[in-house]
Amino acid sequence: MSRYPEYFESYGRKEPQAINHIPITFAAGKPDMGYFDMLSSNPARLNRFMKAMASTSSSIPIAGIYDFSWLVDTVKENPNLNRAVLVDVGGGMGHAIKAIHGEFPQLPLGRFVLQDTPDTVEAGKALNEPELAQIQRLAINFHKEPPVRGRSQSRHTPHKAYRMESK
Ligand SMILES: C[S@@+](CC[C@H](N)C(=O)[O-])C[C@H]1O[C@@H](n2cnc3c(N)ncnc32)[C@H](O)[C@@H]1O
Repeated sequence: MSRYPEYFESYGRKEPQAINHIPITFAAGKPDMGYFDMLSSNPARLNRFMKAMASTSSSIPIAGIYDFSWLVDTVKENPNLNRAVLVDVGGGMGHAIKAIHGEFPQLPLGRFVLQDTPDTVEAGKALNEPELAQIQRLAINFHKEPPVRGRSQSRHTPHKAYRMESK
């Protein structure tokens, strides 16, 4: 924060115009980077950030705020739909999926999709959490690729191709 004056002197008194050239990466001396690129360049810091994200769920529980029971009913009514049940865009290490599936274990875990940056996807895989073993993890850049809708995921997951379009 102490470098805000310098930041605004350099960029003018306006909001950041892109994902890079933002105060936090400017202050770190890496203005060309976006915040998550900077995090990804430091695996220890990335892991700390993800742990902090996960810890917020103990004070702001993810499951319990939104009632996913309609999803259980929909899956029951349409057991053969070859489509993702839930896509967590920017889902980090998967703690939201874990919490939601913990509360609704009837939902087929193999049809949960976690999308995040390549480094985060890899870091999440490396944790080898048994509760998340069946989910599909897709590396995407959500600034470039729209949250997948209406197209097959087989490009990313040749072993399983779920369509993500809404009903
Ligand atoms: C604020 S964290 C939220 C993580 C998780 N959803 C949660 O609630 O704890 C934002 C997430 O978006 C991911 N992310 C940032 N930029 C991204 C991008 N361009 N494409 C895909 N994921 C991105 C980050 O890696 C991070 O996991």
